[in-house]
Amino acid sequence: MQALTYQGTKDVRVENVPDPVLLANDDLILRVTATAICGSDLHIYRGKIPGMKDGDILGHEFMGIVEETGSAVTEVKRGDRVVIPFVIACGDCFYCNKTLFAACETTNPGCGAILNKKTATAGAGLFGYSHLYGGYSGGQAEYVRVPKANVGPFKVPDALSDDQVLFLSDILPTGYQAAVNAQVVPGSSVAIFGAGPVGYMAAASARLLGAEQIFMIDHHDYRLQFAQETYGVIPINFDQDDDPADTILKATNGHGVDATIDAVGFEAKGSGIETVLTTLKMEGSSGKALRQCMAATRRGGIVSVPGVYAGWIHGFLFGDAFEKGLTFKMGQTHVQRVLPELLDYIGNGKLKPEVIITHRMKLADAQRGYELFEQKQEDCRKVVLMP
Ligand SMILES: NC(=O)c1ccc[n+]([C@@H]2O[C@H](COP(=O)([O-])OP(=O)(O)OC[C@H]3O[C@@H](n4cnc5c(N)ncnc54)[C@H](O)[C@@H]3O)[C@@H](O)[C@H]2O)c1
Ligand SMILES: [Zn+2]
Ligand SMILES: [Zn+2]
Repeated sequence: MQALTYQGTKDVRVENVPDPVLLANDDLILRVTATAICGSDLHIYRGKIPGMKDGDILGHEFMGIVEETGSAVTEVKRGDRVVIPFVIACGDCFYCNKTLFAACETTNPGCGAILNKKTATAGAGLFGYSHLYGGYSGGQAEYVRVPKANVGPFKVPDALSDDQVLFLSDILPTGYQAAVNAQVVPGSSVAIFGAGPVGYMAAASARLLGAEQIFMIDHHDYRLQFAQETYGVIPINFDQDDDPADTILKATNGHGVDATIDAVGFEAKGSGIETVLTTLKMEGSSGKALRQCMAATRRGGIVSVPGVYAGWIHGFLFGDAFEKGLTFKMGQTHVQRVLPELLDYIGNGKLKPEVIITHRMKLADAQRGYELFEQKQEDCRKVVLMP
């Protein structure tokens, strides 16, 4: 079959690889009909995620048709059309029983990404996301093995197109979890850093939950403009305004917003020193967006962080967080927890995640898709690949 493989920094290639086979009796083999490139894939593409091996198959946002099932698979059958959460969860461990699926402690044979881990267990295995997360082959491929097939795959109605439901695999639950973590209620004010797909899904979710005022910060005008037209955000371009948090404070009577959402993560732009230090591996993450979030949040407010962070940050102003009485909520998304309610919102037209798609391409052209999305060429917002 054809699959998009990692070959090193900024080197991904569609290659012929062996078809996946069932390895456990609760596995299934999926024939992929649609798969997307995620901002998290860009961290891998830029060589920033350790534990990648040449030839690893990428992709963790995908859906398709069940091709074959193991003998213990009871929840889905051959021919079913399903969306697959990017988190592989057993549904029955200490954490799964708390619906903390991204913390599933049985699906990741890798070591996870906690530096001071001691004897704690690693978080859940993830599709196509390095050997830290289990080394599972991803879904930017014609076929993929899906473990824990009685827990992960969700059947989707034929009336909804692939475009409409594909993002249930990751970015829609991620944006929604970010808005729920931000405790958005009718009348809330929110600032979302990052006008990428996750920022968009957070904006759509914040609107759904009743947010009144949403600021959005990025430095790509085409991305901000889309969010202004689609979600009614107040755009701030940090190339023109080098202190968006200060602008937000001034616009909110000096208080700041009820909650901020950091949909940027550890490769945040804007601090030359941190960019150099992270490249030299003397700093784990750039703290630029996080510091802006903390400064833009009112006292007693919430900083919700769906953006991925790694290791340590020297410039993390914990004293400011204490003084302001901030609450932090963050982490990988517990996709299985929120997917069913989000499917309902798509069904009744309250969420239309597909509007962010700008590029639909053949899987064979995936290499170009990565370039477009990473370089922000052709006003790219989101790439969907079809095998
Ligand atoms: N928590 C989860 O489970 C989960 C799931 C999916 C994605 N993510 C993470 O969410 C983040 C965003 O993903 P995406 O798909 O939207 O990626 P993306 O790269 O398309 O978007 C990120 C945006 O942030 C902007 N940006 C960079 N520096 C900034 C700064 N200092 N201030 C404001 N904006 C800045 C960029 O210009 C870009 O438009 C990534 O870190 C990704 O790994 C997390
Ligand atoms: Zn993702
Ligand atoms: Zn589990």
